[in-house]
Amino acid sequence: MDALVDSPLGWLSVGITLLFGAIVLYVADRSLMGKVNVLLWSLLLTLLGLLCVATLGAGGGLGVFCVGSLVSSVFLGGRALLPVGDKAVLITGSDTGIGHALAKHLDNLGFVVFAGVLNKDGPGPEELRRTCSQRLSVLQLDITNATQVKEAYLKVSEKVQNTGLWGVVNNAGILGFPADGELLPMGMYRQCMEVNFFGAVEVSKTFLPLLRKCRGRLVNVCSMAGGIPLQRLAAYGASKAALSMFSGVMRQELSKWGIKVAAIHPSGFRTGILGTPELWDKQEKELMENLPADTRQDYGEDYLLGLKSNFPIMSALCDANLSPVLAAILHALLAKRPHGLYTPGKRSYLLLCIFCYFPLWFYDFFISKMPSSDSVPRALRTSEAENKNL
Ligand SMILES: NC(=O)c1ccc[n+]([C@@H]2O[C@H](COP(=O)([O-])OP(=O)(O)OC[C@H]3O[C@@H](n4cnc5c(N)ncnc54)[C@H](OP(=O)(O)O)[C@@H]3O)[C@@H](O)[C@H]2O)c1
Ligand SMILES: *[C@@H]1O[C@H](CO)[C@@H](O)[C@H](O)[C@H]1NC(C)=O
Repeated sequence: MDALVDSPLGWLSVGITLLFGAIVLYVADRSLMGKVNVLLWSLLLTLLGLLCVATLGAGGGLGVFCVGSLVSSVFLGGRALLPVGDKAVLITGSDTGIGHALAKHLDNLGFVVFAGVLNKDGPGPEELRRTCSQRLSVLQLDITNATQVKEAYLKVSEKVQNTGLWGVVNNAGILGFPADGELLPMGMYRQCMEVNFFGAVEVSKTFLPLLRKCRGRLVNVCSMAGGIPLQRLAAYGASKAALSMFSGVMRQELSKWGIKVAAIHPSGFRTGILGTPELWDKQEKELMENLPADTRQDYGEDYLLGLKSNFPIMSALCDANLSPVLAAILHALLAKRPHGLYTPGKRSYLLLCIFCYFPLWFYDFFISKMPSSDSVPRALRTSEAENKNL
């Protein structure tokens, strides 16, 4: 150490080391880490710097330390969050599930929350009014109803006249009935597009002028199924893929306005998305009524009536802890540098990587090994039996 502080280079090293410590401290100030952690982190870095200089000599040590500091400040900077302040956020589909939990979470953090709901007299909205702060307003907002979108816009713009709207979270969505794409009625495809795509587009277009005022954030809750092909989700997946592409294009176009756009591709959270046995019965009936006779014949009654057994299988794969998806949405809303894509939930990132970086045949093989009902259409069972007899 003596030799270190004796030389001018040594003093320079110590000075630069301290400077880096200070920069890291500054950058990380508003990060997810507590202030104490940041202080410890900076002290540690400073000590590390001195150690590097002492052991590797002034030049080498300084080099190693500079690189380390830069990497860590970029890392911490990426995690830096903006203050909540009086930021206002609109969430669609806050009746249940992710939207409902997000409304409560953001309200807790101090946001001014506009909780759009499909049915303002339902139990979910009632609970929001009961448990959340006065800042939260529940808005009747069926995103497929242009009148309601306009009315919600008028209410929100009246309340945020001066400050503008910081965020829109397009969360409302429907899953429909998971069944082979050949079997799904056209009405199901149209309904999925209507809610998951056109609804989100209309809400985005309507509220963008308010977002522009504060160079805010547009967050679209898409799905893992919109980024990669998954069996029995043709209608849902296609509508979410459309939303995902919309997000990507908007991200590019809106950056000139300072508006940042993120797509969230969640997977496997336990919410209301799977619906109820009553809804399954209704959807099954609609599916059966729309089938041509020969399709019905080929698939067979027991295969068709067994489709509902996919719900419990999907449900068993779900996680009741929504915090990963809430954290992703919060990051998209508040991070200085939000990501364009978030993949909260089990398997979402893994499957996307396999889909992107491996040959398609491998991805298809991998997917075919995922748990699902193992029933086989009637016509295939008989042809299998015939083949065995040959
Ligand atoms: N759960 C997951 O693992 C998962 C995975 C991938 C993507 N997602 C997406 O995450 C979002 C939230 O879903 P969730 O899992 O929280 O399911 P959820 O509990 O069913 O929440 C969706 C909400 O949207 C509402 N909604 C339906 N149609 C609407 C419309 N036309 N206008 C306004 N609101 C409408 C629903 O109201 P009702 O309850 O009254 O029908 C419900 O409250 C959806 O976009 C979903 O596709 C979820
Ligand atoms: C759309 O919303 C308006 C206002 O709430 C309502 O009067 C109308 O019946 C709704 N239209 C449809 C098709 O649901």
